[in-house]
Amino acid sequence: ASVDRHELLEITTSVATEAAELVSHRRREGVQVAATKSSLVDVVTAADIEAEHFIREELAKLRPEDGFFGEESDASPSRSGITWVVDPIDGTVNYLYGSPNYAVSIAAVVGDPSARPTAFEALAGAVVAPDLGKTYAAVKDGGAFVNGQRIQLGEGPSSLAQTLVASGFSYSPERRVLQAQAWLGMADKVRDLRRVGAASLDLCAVAEGQVDVYYEIGLKPWDWAAGVLVARESGARVGGKHLSEREGQSILTAGHPGVIAPFIDLLLEVAPPKLLASGK
Ligand code: IPD
Repeated sequence: ASVDRHELLEITTSVATEAAELVSHRRREGVQVAATKSSLVDVVTAADIEAEHFIREELAKLRPEDGFFGEESDASPSRSGITWVVDPIDGTVNYLYGSPNYAVSIAAVVGDPSARPTAFEALAGAVVAPDLGKTYAAVKDGGAFVNGQRIQLGEGPSSLAQTLVASGFSYSPERRVLQAQAWLGMADKVRDLRRVGAASLDLCAVAEGQVDVYYEIGLKPWDWAAGVLVARESGARVGGKHLSEREGQSILTAGHPGVIAPFIDLLLEVAPPKLLASGK
């Protein structure tokens, strides 16, 4: 059956907006840590669980044949070819600390994200950051938008020395040390470094030209499925030479087309081999 991408966009945006209102409201009432996951710093709040449950129910009402792949609950297979990839709160630690840099991220994808991270493609995606007042949305081959306004990358930097780079750190202490070594290796070669704490918003920052390049090693599909589409549809290049096959598996790069290739060369030069080889 043919899929109406614009209908998927409408659903992803409206459900993400409602979930974002819910989590923002819950935060005003006081955040409750429900559990810790991979390590003591990897927390899940009661709002993460409630929001994922809400998103799952809403999507099931609207499109019962679709699959579901979310951060906080078990996956369910698709009978329609479409699967929803959901991070109910990306930037959970920011959420816990009262920072506005967190977002609800929802993407409608074709393919199976639970099988192989590279074996799916987003058709529509939304990243909604209620406390920033920003709704990012994108539809494949149809553009990227912030609060309904089209976003397109302008002229970018012409050298690495003028390139503002964002990245993130994983919850695994071992991997974090390796990530810090990579960052140290590029610190004197780029304009500056940023660590916001929400991968989906980092990708949207690339789309808006607020950073030139974003990379991270060790992400999960729900962190990037919607944000990658926003970045791509704004004109950013995602993946890139040497890394595209591994996109989503462990290494993700997104950035201005003018600097992404030299940036990837730099990353491959400074990142410890153990980090580049680390899967999920
Ligand atoms: C995390 C954030 C963070 C990134 C981590 C992610 P979460 O997602 O996106 O910026 O560096 O790798 O796990 O746990 O807040 O949904």
